[in-house]
Amino acid sequence: MKEIKNKLAEELQKRLEVEVDENDIELPEPEHGDFAYPVMKAASKNGANPRKLAEEVEEQFENLEFIEETSVAGPGYLNIHLNREVYAEKISEQIESSRMGINRKEEEVLLEFSSPNIAKPMHIGHVRNNCLGDSLQRILKFSGYNVTSENYIGDWGAQFGKSIFAFKKYGSEEELDRNPMDHIYNLYVKFHEEAENDPEMVEKAAEWSKRLEDGDEEAKRLWKKLREFTIEYDMREYERMGIEFDRITGESKVVEKGDEIVERGIEKNIFDKDPDGSIYAEFEDEDLPSIIVRKSDGTTLYITRDIANIEKRESEGFDQNLYIVGSEQELHFQQLFKITEKFGITDLENEHISYGMLNLEEGGMSSREGNIITLSDLLDMAVKEAEKRIEDEERLENAEKIGLGAVKYANLKVSRRKDIEFNWDNVLSFEGDSGPYLQYSNTRAKSIMEKADTEGEFMGEFNETEYRLLKKIGEFPEKVENAAEQREPVKVANYLSTLCEAFNTFYHECPVLDVEEKDTKRRLKLVELFVEVTDTGLELLGIESLEKM
Ligand code: ARG
Repeated sequence: MKEIKNKLAEELQKRLEVEVDENDIELPEPEHGDFAYPVMKAASKNGANPRKLAEEVEEQFENLEFIEETSVAGPGYLNIHLNREVYAEKISEQIESSRMGINRKEEEVLLEFSSPNIAKPMHIGHVRNNCLGDSLQRILKFSGYNVTSENYIGDWGAQFGKSIFAFKKYGSEEELDRNPMDHIYNLYVKFHEEAENDPEMVEKAAEWSKRLEDGDEEAKRLWKKLREFTIEYDMREYERMGIEFDRITGESKVVEKGDEIVERGIEKNIFDKDPDGSIYAEFEDEDLPSIIVRKSDGTTLYITRDIANIEKRESEGFDQNLYIVGSEQELHFQQLFKITEKFGITDLENEHISYGMLNLEEGGMSSREGNIITLSDLLDMAVKEAEKRIEDEERLENAEKIGLGAVKYANLKVSRRKDIEFNWDNVLSFEGDSGPYLQYSNTRAKSIMEKADTEGEFMGEFNETEYRLLKKIGEFPEKVENAAEQREPVKVANYLSTLCEAFNTFYHECPVLDVEEKDTKRRLKLVELFVEVTDTGLELLGIESLEKM
Protein backbone atom coordinates (compact mmCIF):
# COMPACT_ATOMS: atom_id res chain seq x y z
CA MET A 1 0.00 0.00 0.00
CA LYS A 2 1.46 3.26 -1.18
CA GLU A 3 0.42 5.51 1.67
CA ILE A 4 2.08 3.30 4.27
CA LYS A 5 5.15 2.77 2.13
CA ASN A 6 5.53 6.53 1.70
CA LYS A 7 5.14 7.06 5.41
CA LEU A 8 7.73 4.41 6.13
CA ALA A 9 10.17 5.89 3.63
CA GLU A 10 9.68 9.28 5.25
CA GLU A 11 10.33 7.93 8.74
CA LEU A 12 13.37 5.97 7.59
CA GLN A 13 14.75 9.00 5.85
CA LYS A 14 14.41 11.09 9.00
CA ARG A 15 16.22 8.55 11.10
CA LEU A 16 18.89 7.44 8.66
CA GLU A 17 19.64 10.89 7.34
CA VAL A 18 19.92 9.60 3.77
CA GLU A 19 17.43 9.64 0.95
CA VAL A 20 15.13 6.63 1.06
CA ASP A 21 13.32 5.65 -2.09
CA GLU A 22 10.02 3.93 -1.41
CA ASN A 23 10.89 1.44 -4.14
CA ASP A 24 13.77 0.20 -2.00
CA ILE A 25 11.30 -0.99 0.59
CA GLU A 26 10.90 -4.71 -0.02
CA LEU A 27 8.14 -7.20 0.54
CA PRO A 28 9.74 -10.06 2.50
CA GLU A 29 8.45 -13.57 3.12
CA PRO A 30 5.35 -13.13 5.31
CA GLU A 31 6.97 -14.68 8.41
CA HIS A 32 9.64 -11.97 8.37
CA GLY A 33 7.23 -9.10 8.32
CA ASP A 34 5.15 -6.88 6.06
CA PHE A 35 8.01 -4.76 4.82
CA ALA A 36 11.78 -4.94 4.95
CA TYR A 37 14.34 -2.24 4.40
CA PRO A 38 17.98 -3.03 3.61
CA VAL A 39 19.81 -0.58 5.87
CA MET A 40 23.05 -1.69 4.18
CA LYS A 41 22.45 0.89 1.47
CA ALA A 42 22.30 3.81 3.86
CA ALA A 43 25.19 2.45 5.89
CA SER A 44 27.49 2.29 2.90
CA LYS A 45 26.70 5.93 2.15
CA ASN A 46 27.79 7.21 5.55
CA GLY A 47 30.35 4.56 6.40
CA ALA A 48 28.45 3.00 9.30
CA ASN A 49 28.22 -0.65 10.32
CA PRO A 50 24.93 -1.72 8.73
CA ARG A 51 23.81 -4.12 11.41
CA LYS A 52 24.49 -1.62 14.16
CA LEU A 53 22.79 1.16 12.28
CA ALA A 54 19.76 -1.05 11.74
CA GLU A 55 19.58 -1.77 15.47
CA GLU A 56 19.77 1.90 16.32
CA VAL A 57 17.04 2.79 13.90
CA GLU A 58 14.89 -0.05 15.11
CA GLU A 59 14.72 1.42 18.60
CA GLN A 60 13.41 4.67 17.27
CA PHE A 61 10.58 2.92 15.45
CA GLU A 62 8.86 1.55 18.49
CA ASN A 63 6.15 4.08 19.11
CA LEU A 64 4.73 4.65 15.66
CA GLU A 65 1.01 3.94 15.69
CA PHE A 66 0.94 1.78 12.56
CA ILE A 67 3.89 -0.39 13.52
CA GLU A 68 3.43 -3.41 15.74
CA GLU A 69 6.92 -4.74 15.89
CA THR A 70 10.34 -4.45 14.26
CA SER A 71 13.36 -6.70 14.16
CA VAL A 72 16.80 -6.75 12.61
CA ALA A 73 17.97 -9.68 10.53
CA GLY A 74 20.94 -10.75 8.45
CA PRO A 75 23.57 -8.19 7.54
CA GLY A 76 21.25 -5.27 8.30
CA TYR A 77 17.66 -5.79 7.24
CA LEU A 78 15.07 -3.90 9.20
CA ASN A 79 11.93 -6.04 9.24
CA ILE A 80 8.67 -4.30 9.96
CA HIS A 81 5.42 -5.81 11.16
CA LEU A 82 2.50 -3.47 10.85
CA ASN A 83 -0.29 -3.17 13.33
CA ARG A 84 -2.85 -5.28 11.50
CA GLU A 85 -5.93 -3.48 12.78
CA VAL A 86 -4.63 -0.07 11.79
CA TYR A 87 -3.47 -1.42 8.44
CA ALA A 88 -6.82 -3.06 7.75
CA GLU A 89 -8.69 0.17 8.43
CA LYS A 90 -6.41 2.09 6.10
CA ILE A 91 -6.89 -0.43 3.33
CA SER A 92 -10.65 -0.52 3.56
CA GLU A 93 -10.79 3.25 3.71
CA GLN A 94 -8.77 3.48 0.51
CA ILE A 95 -10.61 0.75 -1.39
CA GLU A 96 -13.93 2.32 -0.51
CA SER A 97 -12.99 5.89 -1.40
CA SER A 98 -13.66 7.34 -4.81
CA ARG A 99 -11.21 6.10 -7.50
CA MET A 100 -9.57 4.24 -4.62
CA GLY A 101 -7.65 7.27 -3.47
CA ILE A 102 -5.71 7.70 -6.72
CA ASN A 103 -4.90 11.36 -7.41
CA ARG A 104 -5.95 13.25 -10.51
CA LYS A 105 -3.14 13.84 -12.97
CA GLU A 106 -2.77 17.07 -14.86
CA GLU A 107 -1.79 15.47 -18.15
CA GLU A 108 -3.93 15.44 -21.29
CA VAL A 109 -3.45 12.11 -23.02
CA LEU A 110 -4.42 11.18 -26.57
CA LEU A 111 -4.68 7.42 -26.85
CA GLU A 112 -5.08 6.08 -30.36
CA PHE A 113 -6.03 2.47 -30.85
CA SER A 114 -7.74 0.01 -33.21
CA SER A 115 -7.58 2.28 -36.30
CA PRO A 116 -8.67 -0.35 -38.85
CA ASN A 117 -8.71 0.22 -42.59
CA ILE A 118 -11.99 0.58 -44.43
CA ALA A 119 -13.47 -1.86 -46.95
CA LYS A 120 -12.33 -4.87 -44.92
CA PRO A 121 -13.69 -6.52 -41.82
CA MET A 122 -11.51 -6.31 -38.71
CA HIS A 123 -9.53 -9.53 -38.38
CA ILE A 124 -7.66 -11.46 -35.77
CA GLY A 125 -4.84 -8.88 -35.88
CA HIS A 126 -7.20 -6.30 -34.42
CA VAL A 127 -8.26 -8.43 -31.49
CA ARG A 128 -5.17 -7.82 -29.41
CA ASN A 129 -5.10 -4.15 -30.33
CA ASN A 130 -8.71 -3.66 -29.27
CA CYS A 131 -8.22 -5.53 -26.00
CA LEU A 132 -5.03 -3.68 -25.11
CA GLY A 133 -6.29 -0.29 -26.19
CA ASP A 134 -9.59 -0.54 -24.40
CA SER A 135 -8.03 -1.80 -21.20
CA LEU A 136 -5.38 0.89 -21.29
CA GLN A 137 -7.94 3.61 -21.80
CA ARG A 138 -9.85 2.33 -18.76
CA ILE A 139 -6.66 2.07 -16.67
CA LEU A 140 -5.44 5.54 -17.63
CA LYS A 141 -8.83 7.07 -16.91
CA PHE A 142 -9.04 5.33 -13.55
CA SER A 143 -5.51 6.52 -12.76
CA GLY A 144 -6.69 10.09 -13.10
CA TYR A 145 -5.39 11.09 -16.53
CA ASN A 146 -7.54 13.16 -18.87
CA VAL A 147 -7.79 10.70 -21.71
CA THR A 148 -9.21 11.15 -25.18
CA SER A 149 -9.37 7.86 -27.03
CA GLU A 150 -9.27 8.10 -30.79
CA ASN A 151 -9.95 5.67 -33.58
CA TYR A 152 -7.94 6.90 -36.56
CA ILE A 153 -9.56 5.03 -39.43
CA GLY A 154 -7.40 4.03 -42.42
CA ASP A 155 -9.71 5.61 -44.97
CA TRP A 156 -7.30 7.10 -47.49
CA GLY A 157 -4.76 5.69 -49.87
CA ALA A 158 -4.30 4.03 -53.21
CA GLN A 159 -5.72 0.67 -52.12
CA PHE A 160 -9.29 1.98 -52.17
CA GLY A 161 -8.97 2.54 -55.88
CA LYS A 162 -8.79 -1.26 -56.10
CA SER A 163 -12.00 -1.76 -54.15
CA ILE A 164 -13.78 0.83 -56.25
CA PHE A 165 -12.49 -0.59 -59.52
CA ALA A 166 -13.40 -4.12 -58.46
CA PHE A 167 -16.87 -2.96 -57.55
CA LYS A 168 -17.28 -1.19 -60.86
CA LYS A 169 -16.16 -4.30 -62.72
CA TYR A 170 -17.99 -7.06 -60.88
CA GLY A 171 -20.22 -5.56 -58.21
CA SER A 172 -23.88 -4.78 -57.85
CA GLU A 173 -25.52 -1.79 -56.16
CA GLU A 174 -28.19 -4.00 -54.60
CA GLU A 175 -25.65 -6.31 -53.06
CA LEU A 176 -23.76 -3.27 -51.82
CA ASP A 177 -26.84 -2.08 -49.98
CA ARG A 178 -27.82 -5.49 -48.72
CA ASN A 179 -24.54 -6.97 -47.53
CA PRO A 180 -21.80 -4.42 -48.14
CA MET A 181 -18.90 -5.86 -46.16
CA ASP A 182 -19.01 -9.35 -47.61
CA HIS A 183 -19.69 -8.04 -51.07
CA ILE A 184 -16.80 -5.56 -51.17
CA TYR A 185 -14.39 -7.88 -49.45
CA ASN A 186 -15.14 -10.75 -51.85
CA LEU A 187 -14.66 -8.45 -54.83
CA TYR A 188 -11.36 -7.30 -53.42
CA VAL A 189 -10.15 -10.88 -53.12
CA LYS A 190 -11.37 -11.62 -56.64
CA PHE A 191 -9.52 -8.56 -57.91
CA HIS A 192 -6.26 -9.81 -56.45
CA GLU A 193 -6.70 -13.27 -57.91
CA GLU A 194 -7.21 -11.90 -61.40
CA ALA A 195 -4.59 -9.20 -61.14
CA GLU A 196 -1.98 -11.90 -60.72
CA ASN A 197 -2.33 -12.86 -64.37
CA ASP A 198 -3.40 -9.53 -65.73
CA PRO A 199 -1.18 -6.54 -64.92
CA GLU A 200 -3.58 -4.21 -66.70
CA MET A 201 -5.98 -4.63 -63.78
CA VAL A 202 -3.58 -2.84 -61.48
CA GLU A 203 -3.27 0.07 -63.86
CA LYS A 204 -7.02 0.38 -64.10
CA ALA A 205 -7.32 0.36 -60.35
CA ALA A 206 -4.67 3.08 -60.17
CA GLU A 207 -6.84 5.20 -62.44
CA TRP A 208 -9.60 5.01 -59.86
CA SER A 209 -7.15 5.98 -57.12
CA LYS A 210 -6.24 9.01 -59.17
CA ARG A 211 -9.87 9.88 -59.77
CA LEU A 212 -10.44 9.69 -56.07
CA GLU A 213 -7.50 11.98 -55.33
CA ASP A 214 -8.80 14.42 -57.95
CA GLY A 215 -12.25 14.53 -56.41
CA ASP A 216 -14.16 12.71 -59.16
CA GLU A 217 -17.85 12.54 -58.18
CA GLU A 218 -18.45 8.82 -58.76
CA ALA A 219 -15.18 7.84 -57.07
CA LYS A 220 -16.08 9.99 -54.11
CA ARG A 221 -19.61 8.60 -53.87
CA LEU A 222 -18.30 5.05 -53.70
CA TRP A 223 -15.49 5.89 -51.31
CA LYS A 224 -18.02 7.51 -48.98
CA LYS A 225 -20.08 4.34 -49.08
CA LEU A 226 -17.06 2.21 -48.26
CA ARG A 227 -16.24 4.46 -45.35
CA GLU A 228 -19.77 4.61 -43.98
CA PHE A 229 -20.61 0.93 -44.12
CA THR A 230 -17.25 -0.04 -42.65
CA ILE A 231 -17.60 2.30 -39.72
CA GLU A 232 -21.14 1.07 -39.15
CA TYR A 233 -19.93 -2.52 -39.28
CA ASP A 234 -16.95 -1.87 -37.00
CA MET A 235 -19.08 0.02 -34.49
CA ARG A 236 -21.24 -3.06 -34.01
CA GLU A 237 -18.12 -5.07 -33.22
CA TYR A 238 -16.90 -2.47 -30.74
CA GLU A 239 -20.30 -2.46 -29.12
CA ARG A 240 -20.19 -6.20 -28.76
CA MET A 241 -16.77 -5.89 -27.15
CA GLY A 242 -17.90 -3.06 -24.88
CA ILE A 243 -15.45 -0.60 -26.42
CA GLU A 244 -16.12 3.11 -26.71
CA PHE A 245 -14.06 5.82 -28.36
CA ASP A 246 -14.15 9.48 -27.47
CA ARG A 247 -13.73 10.33 -31.13
CA ILE A 248 -13.48 8.78 -34.56
CA THR A 249 -11.18 10.45 -37.04
CA GLY A 250 -9.36 9.14 -40.08
CA GLU A 251 -6.54 9.65 -42.52
CA SER A 252 -8.89 11.42 -44.93
CA LYS A 253 -9.25 14.27 -42.44
CA VAL A 254 -5.59 15.24 -42.67
CA VAL A 255 -4.93 14.87 -46.40
CA GLU A 256 -4.79 18.60 -47.06
CA LYS A 257 -2.71 19.26 -44.00
CA GLY A 258 -0.37 16.56 -45.29
CA ASP A 259 0.05 18.35 -48.64
CA GLU A 260 0.92 21.49 -46.78
CA ILE A 261 3.42 19.69 -44.55
CA VAL A 262 5.31 18.50 -47.61
CA GLU A 263 5.64 22.07 -48.90
CA ARG A 264 6.85 23.29 -45.54
CA GLY A 265 9.28 20.42 -45.22
CA ILE A 266 10.84 21.23 -48.60
CA GLU A 267 11.23 24.88 -47.59
CA LYS A 268 12.86 23.94 -44.33
CA ASN A 269 15.19 21.41 -45.97
CA ILE A 270 13.68 18.63 -43.92
CA PHE A 271 12.65 16.89 -47.16
CA ASP A 272 14.56 16.43 -50.41
CA LYS A 273 13.54 16.11 -54.05
CA ASP A 274 14.41 12.98 -55.97
CA PRO A 275 15.21 13.32 -59.71
CA ASP A 276 12.06 11.28 -60.44
CA GLY A 277 9.95 14.01 -58.81
CA SER A 278 9.16 12.28 -55.55
CA ILE A 279 9.88 13.87 -52.18
CA TYR A 280 11.58 11.99 -49.39
CA ALA A 281 12.98 12.35 -45.89
CA GLU A 282 16.49 11.24 -45.05
CA PHE A 283 17.95 10.56 -41.62
CA GLU A 284 21.66 11.31 -41.83
CA ASP A 285 22.51 11.02 -38.17
CA GLU A 286 20.38 8.04 -37.35
CA ASP A 287 20.48 4.55 -38.59
CA LEU A 288 17.12 4.74 -40.33
CA PRO A 289 16.27 4.20 -44.00
CA SER A 290 14.91 7.17 -45.90
CA ILE A 291 11.21 7.34 -46.66
CA ILE A 292 9.05 8.88 -49.37
CA VAL A 293 6.52 11.47 -48.20
CA ARG A 294 5.11 12.39 -51.63
CA LYS A 295 5.09 10.26 -54.74
CA SER A 296 6.07 11.56 -58.14
CA ASP A 297 2.37 11.69 -59.10
CA GLY A 298 1.83 14.22 -56.31
CA THR A 299 -0.04 11.98 -53.87
CA THR A 300 1.01 11.80 -50.23
CA LEU A 301 1.52 8.71 -48.12
CA TYR A 302 0.56 7.09 -44.86
CA ILE A 303 3.46 8.69 -43.00
CA THR A 304 2.73 12.14 -44.40
CA ARG A 305 -0.74 12.08 -42.91
CA ASP A 306 0.66 10.86 -39.59
CA ILE A 307 3.03 13.85 -39.49
CA ALA A 308 0.13 16.20 -40.11
CA ASN A 309 -1.90 14.49 -37.45
CA ILE A 310 0.77 14.89 -34.79
CA GLU A 311 0.85 18.59 -35.50
CA LYS A 312 -2.92 18.67 -35.14
CA ARG A 313 -2.82 16.85 -31.83
CA GLU A 314 -0.14 19.17 -30.52
CA SER A 315 -2.26 22.18 -31.43
CA GLU A 316 -5.16 20.62 -29.55
CA GLY A 317 -3.06 20.80 -26.40
CA PHE A 318 -2.29 17.15 -25.72
CA ASP A 319 0.74 16.39 -23.56
CA GLN A 320 1.04 12.74 -24.47
CA ASN A 321 0.37 11.15 -27.83
CA LEU A 322 0.09 7.37 -27.59
CA TYR A 323 -0.33 4.84 -30.39
CA ILE A 324 -1.29 1.25 -29.91
CA VAL A 325 0.00 -0.38 -33.07
CA GLY A 326 1.66 -3.75 -33.72
CA SER A 327 5.41 -4.23 -33.63
CA GLU A 328 5.59 -4.55 -37.42
CA GLN A 329 5.24 -0.75 -37.58
CA GLU A 330 8.13 0.07 -35.25
CA LEU A 331 10.26 1.51 -38.03
CA HIS A 332 7.38 3.66 -39.22
CA PHE A 333 7.02 5.26 -35.80
CA GLN A 334 10.76 5.82 -35.40
CA GLN A 335 10.83 7.65 -38.70
CA LEU A 336 7.65 9.53 -37.91
CA PHE A 337 8.84 10.79 -34.52
CA LYS A 338 12.20 11.83 -35.95
CA ILE A 339 10.54 13.85 -38.68
CA THR A 340 8.16 15.65 -36.32
CA GLU A 341 11.12 16.50 -34.11
CA LYS A 342 12.78 18.15 -37.09
CA PHE A 343 9.61 20.16 -37.62
CA GLY A 344 9.90 21.35 -34.04
CA ILE A 345 6.67 19.66 -32.98
CA THR A 346 7.92 18.86 -29.52
CA ASP A 347 5.29 20.06 -27.05
CA LEU A 348 3.84 16.59 -26.84
CA GLU A 349 5.49 13.33 -25.96
CA ASN A 350 5.00 10.62 -28.57
CA GLU A 351 5.01 6.95 -27.77
CA HIS A 352 4.46 3.88 -29.88
CA ILE A 353 2.94 1.27 -27.62
CA SER A 354 4.02 -1.78 -29.53
CA TYR A 355 2.75 -5.33 -29.14
CA GLY A 356 3.46 -8.82 -30.45
CA MET A 357 1.39 -11.21 -32.53
CA LEU A 358 -1.63 -13.25 -31.60
CA ASN A 359 -1.26 -16.72 -33.10
CA LEU A 360 -3.81 -19.47 -33.25
CA GLU A 361 -2.60 -22.89 -32.39
CA GLU A 362 -2.02 -24.91 -35.53
CA GLY A 363 -4.83 -27.05 -36.81
CA GLY A 364 -7.26 -26.02 -34.11
CA MET A 365 -9.09 -23.39 -35.97
CA SER A 366 -8.03 -22.01 -39.28
CA SER A 367 -11.42 -23.12 -40.49
CA ARG A 368 -11.33 -20.93 -43.56
CA GLU A 369 -8.14 -22.08 -45.20
CA GLY A 370 -6.22 -19.27 -46.76
CA ASN A 371 -8.82 -16.80 -45.66
CA ILE A 372 -8.59 -14.25 -42.92
CA ILE A 373 -10.15 -15.06 -39.58
CA THR A 374 -12.30 -12.08 -38.81
CA LEU A 375 -12.64 -10.62 -35.37
CA SER A 376 -16.25 -11.65 -35.27
CA ASP A 377 -15.36 -15.25 -36.27
CA LEU A 378 -12.97 -15.39 -33.35
CA LEU A 379 -15.50 -14.04 -30.86
CA ASP A 380 -18.15 -16.45 -32.15
CA MET A 381 -15.75 -19.35 -31.74
CA ALA A 382 -14.99 -18.28 -28.19
CA VAL A 383 -18.67 -18.14 -27.31
CA LYS A 384 -19.31 -21.56 -28.85
CA GLU A 385 -16.39 -23.04 -26.96
CA ALA A 386 -17.67 -21.45 -23.76
CA GLU A 387 -21.11 -23.00 -24.33
CA LYS A 388 -19.53 -26.43 -24.56
CA ARG A 389 -17.96 -25.96 -21.16
CA ILE A 390 -21.00 -24.69 -19.32
CA GLU A 391 -22.59 -27.61 -17.51
CA ASP A 392 -25.69 -25.97 -16.12
CA GLU A 393 -28.21 -25.44 -18.95
CA GLU A 394 -29.75 -22.48 -17.20
CA ARG A 395 -26.46 -20.66 -17.30
CA LEU A 396 -25.96 -20.91 -21.06
CA GLU A 397 -26.80 -17.24 -21.41
CA ASN A 398 -23.48 -16.51 -19.70
CA ALA A 399 -21.58 -17.89 -22.69
CA GLU A 400 -21.21 -14.53 -24.43
CA LYS A 401 -19.70 -12.86 -21.38
CA ILE A 402 -17.50 -15.83 -20.55
CA GLY A 403 -16.30 -16.31 -24.12
CA LEU A 404 -15.44 -12.65 -24.58
CA GLY A 405 -13.94 -12.38 -21.12
CA ALA A 406 -11.75 -15.37 -21.90
CA VAL A 407 -10.48 -13.85 -25.15
CA LYS A 408 -9.78 -10.52 -23.50
CA TYR A 409 -7.97 -12.01 -20.56
CA ALA A 410 -5.84 -14.24 -22.78
CA ASN A 411 -4.79 -11.11 -24.65
CA LEU A 412 -3.99 -9.16 -21.51
CA LYS A 413 -2.29 -11.72 -19.31
CA VAL A 414 0.86 -11.70 -21.43
CA SER A 415 3.15 -8.68 -21.41
CA ARG A 416 2.41 -6.85 -24.58
CA ARG A 417 5.71 -7.29 -26.40
CA LYS A 418 5.49 -11.07 -26.34
CA ASP A 419 3.65 -13.14 -28.92
CA ILE A 420 0.63 -15.11 -27.80
CA GLU A 421 -0.22 -18.69 -28.73
CA PHE A 422 -3.94 -19.17 -28.44
CA ASN A 423 -5.23 -22.48 -27.12
CA TRP A 424 -8.94 -22.81 -26.33
CA ASP A 425 -8.55 -25.20 -23.42
CA ASN A 426 -6.24 -22.77 -21.62
CA VAL A 427 -8.14 -19.70 -22.63
CA LEU A 428 -11.45 -21.04 -21.35
CA SER A 429 -10.27 -22.98 -18.33
CA PHE A 430 -12.30 -22.35 -15.19
CA GLU A 431 -9.30 -23.15 -13.04
CA GLY A 432 -6.05 -21.92 -14.55
CA ASP A 433 -4.89 -18.40 -15.16
CA SER A 434 -7.89 -17.43 -17.28
CA GLY A 435 -10.78 -15.00 -17.65
CA PRO A 436 -13.41 -17.52 -16.51
CA TYR A 437 -11.35 -18.25 -13.39
CA LEU A 438 -11.47 -14.59 -12.39
CA GLN A 439 -15.16 -14.31 -13.16
CA TYR A 440 -15.81 -17.46 -11.18
CA SER A 441 -13.86 -16.32 -8.11
CA ASN A 442 -15.76 -13.05 -8.17
CA THR A 443 -19.17 -14.77 -8.27
CA ARG A 444 -18.13 -17.10 -5.48
CA ALA A 445 -17.52 -14.12 -3.24
CA LYS A 446 -20.78 -12.51 -4.28
CA SER A 447 -22.72 -15.61 -3.33
CA ILE A 448 -21.26 -15.49 0.19
CA MET A 449 -22.43 -11.90 0.50
CA GLU A 450 -25.86 -12.90 -0.69
CA LYS A 451 -26.19 -15.63 1.91
CA ALA A 452 -24.95 -13.52 4.83
CA ASP A 453 -27.61 -11.55 6.69
CA THR A 454 -25.21 -9.02 8.11
CA GLU A 455 -22.54 -6.58 6.97
CA GLY A 456 -18.83 -7.01 7.23
CA GLU A 457 -16.72 -5.19 9.79
CA PHE A 458 -13.13 -5.56 10.91
CA MET A 459 -13.06 -6.97 14.46
CA GLY A 460 -11.10 -9.70 16.21
CA GLU A 461 -7.73 -10.93 15.02
CA PHE A 462 -6.67 -11.84 11.50
CA ASN A 463 -5.24 -15.30 10.97
CA GLU A 464 -2.39 -15.65 8.48
CA THR A 465 -4.57 -16.62 5.52
CA GLU A 466 -6.92 -13.72 6.11
CA TYR A 467 -4.05 -11.34 6.56
CA ARG A 468 -2.44 -12.45 3.33
CA LEU A 469 -5.69 -11.80 1.47
CA LEU A 470 -6.01 -8.39 3.11
CA LYS A 471 -2.52 -7.37 2.05
CA LYS A 472 -3.13 -8.51 -1.51
CA ILE A 473 -6.31 -6.47 -1.65
CA GLY A 474 -4.35 -3.43 -0.48
CA GLU A 475 -1.95 -3.68 -3.42
CA PHE A 476 -4.60 -2.98 -6.03
CA PRO A 477 -4.44 0.82 -6.45
CA GLU A 478 -0.67 0.77 -6.79
CA LYS A 479 -0.82 -1.98 -9.42
CA VAL A 480 -3.25 0.07 -11.46
CA GLU A 481 -0.98 3.09 -11.39
CA ASN A 482 2.01 0.96 -12.38
CA ALA A 483 0.03 -0.49 -15.25
CA ALA A 484 -0.82 3.03 -16.42
CA GLU A 485 2.76 4.23 -16.23
CA GLN A 486 4.19 1.22 -18.02
CA ARG A 487 1.28 0.95 -20.47
CA GLU A 488 0.95 -2.68 -19.36
CA PRO A 489 -2.53 -3.96 -18.54
CA VAL A 490 -0.77 -7.26 -17.79
CA LYS A 491 0.10 -5.77 -14.39
CA VAL A 492 -3.57 -5.64 -13.50
CA ALA A 493 -4.29 -9.01 -15.10
CA ASN A 494 -1.53 -10.86 -13.24
CA TYR A 495 -2.36 -9.12 -10.00
CA LEU A 496 -6.01 -10.19 -10.24
CA SER A 497 -4.97 -13.74 -10.86
CA THR A 498 -2.81 -13.93 -7.70
CA LEU A 499 -5.48 -12.09 -5.75
CA CYS A 500 -8.02 -14.73 -6.79
CA GLU A 501 -5.61 -17.45 -5.72
CA ALA A 502 -5.33 -15.84 -2.29
CA PHE A 503 -9.09 -15.58 -2.16
CA ASN A 504 -9.67 -19.20 -3.10
CA THR A 505 -7.28 -20.37 -0.38
CA PHE A 506 -9.21 -18.21 2.06
CA TYR A 507 -12.49 -19.59 0.72
CA HIS A 508 -11.41 -23.15 1.55
CA GLU A 509 -9.75 -22.44 4.89
CA CYS A 510 -11.85 -19.74 6.50
CA PRO A 511 -15.61 -20.32 6.67
CA VAL A 512 -17.51 -17.04 6.77
CA LEU A 513 -20.97 -18.16 7.80
CA ASP A 514 -21.90 -20.25 10.84
CA VAL A 515 -18.85 -19.23 12.87
CA GLU A 516 -18.48 -16.81 15.78
CA GLU A 517 -19.95 -13.40 15.03
CA LYS A 518 -16.69 -11.48 15.09
CA ASP A 519 -15.14 -13.97 12.69
CA THR A 520 -18.12 -13.77 10.37
CA LYS A 521 -17.98 -9.98 10.37
CA ARG A 522 -14.26 -9.75 9.80
CA ARG A 523 -14.21 -12.34 7.04
CA LEU A 524 -17.28 -10.90 5.42
CA LYS A 525 -15.55 -7.54 5.28
CA LEU A 526 -12.67 -9.19 3.43
CA VAL A 527 -15.13 -10.76 1.01
CA GLU A 528 -16.76 -7.38 0.40
CA LEU A 529 -13.43 -5.71 -0.33
CA PHE A 530 -12.47 -8.60 -2.59
CA VAL A 531 -15.67 -8.12 -4.59
CA GLU A 532 -15.05 -4.39 -4.83
CA VAL A 533 -11.51 -4.92 -6.13
CA THR A 534 -12.36 -7.73 -8.56
CA ASP A 535 -15.41 -5.89 -9.93
CA THR A 536 -13.23 -2.86 -10.58
CA GLY A 537 -10.26 -4.89 -11.80
CA LEU A 538 -12.36 -6.84 -14.28
CA GLU A 539 -13.86 -3.60 -15.49
CA LEU A 540 -10.37 -2.22 -16.09
CA LEU A 541 -9.65 -5.23 -18.29
CA GLY A 542 -12.93 -4.68 -20.12
CA ILE A 543 -14.27 -7.99 -18.78
CA GLU A 544 -17.83 -8.20 -17.52
CA SER A 545 -18.39 -9.68 -14.13
CA LEU A 546 -21.32 -12.03 -13.58
CA GLU A 547 -23.84 -12.53 -10.79
CA LYS A 548 -23.81 -16.32 -10.92
CA MET A 549 -21.77 -18.90 -12.74
N1 ARG B 1 -4.73 1.80 -40.38
C1 ARG B 1 -3.43 1.25 -40.08
C2 ARG B 1 -3.42 -0.24 -40.37
O1 ARG B 1 -4.47 -0.84 -40.40
C3 ARG B 1 -3.02 1.46 -38.66
C4 ARG B 1 -2.94 2.89 -38.23
C5 ARG B 1 -2.08 3.11 -37.05
N2 ARG B 1 -2.10 4.46 -36.62
C6 ARG B 1 -1.35 5.44 -37.12
N3 ARG B 1 -1.52 6.63 -36.65
N4 ARG B 1 -0.51 5.22 -38.06
O2 ARG B 1 -2.35 -0.81 -40.51
